[in-house]
Amino acid sequence: MARFPEALNGQIGYEFGASQQYVAIAVHYDSLTLPQLAAHFYRQAVEERNHAMMLVQYLLDSDAEIAIPGVEAPQTSFGDVVEPVRLALEQERRVTQQIVELARLAREEGDLVGEQFLHWFLQEQREEVSSMSALLAVVTRSADNVMLVEDYLARESGGVNALEAGAPPSAGGAL
Ligand SMILES: [Fe+2]
Ligand SMILES: [Fe+2]
Repeated sequence: MARFPEALNGQIGYEFGASQQYVAIAVHYDSLTLPQLAAHFYRQAVEERNHAMMLVQYLLDSDAEIAIPGVEAPQTSFGDVVEPVRLALEQERRVTQQIVELARLAREEGDLVGEQFLHWFLQEQREEVSSMSALLAVVTRSADNVMLVEDYLARESGGVNALEAGAPPSAGGAL
């Protein structure tokens, strides 16, 4: 397999892995009866799944080989209410670096179509790192009174994400 499609296949696994990690975090909060935090991460899990399927659609469109990879097991137990959000922020930073490397590879190979495809992912990562940093600040500040976090999410969530409109198509349709 050529290097760029091979790297994109690898990224499919990282996005599904991110999705699984967010499901695990959502279930953790759900089991603590923190419905807003749970809903937030259930939604994030679906977003990550959609990212994986956007990569699949791109590979389909470019007639490249596709081999859906397995994923590493997520972390499922956490010491306190802050730790899952800290883990989520680390994950978003790691994914940003992965997307940067993919864009660099596309550029190296003179694949401008591939590079352009990744621009949306770079914008998405900037947004996700920013919003997860904000959530970490709120959860850290309110660690002793987690209902304040629930109130914050009830107020702040549900806004329209401007990036959604320009999102690349997902194989089988976005969920
Ligand atoms: Fe993602
Ligand atoms: Fe993400």
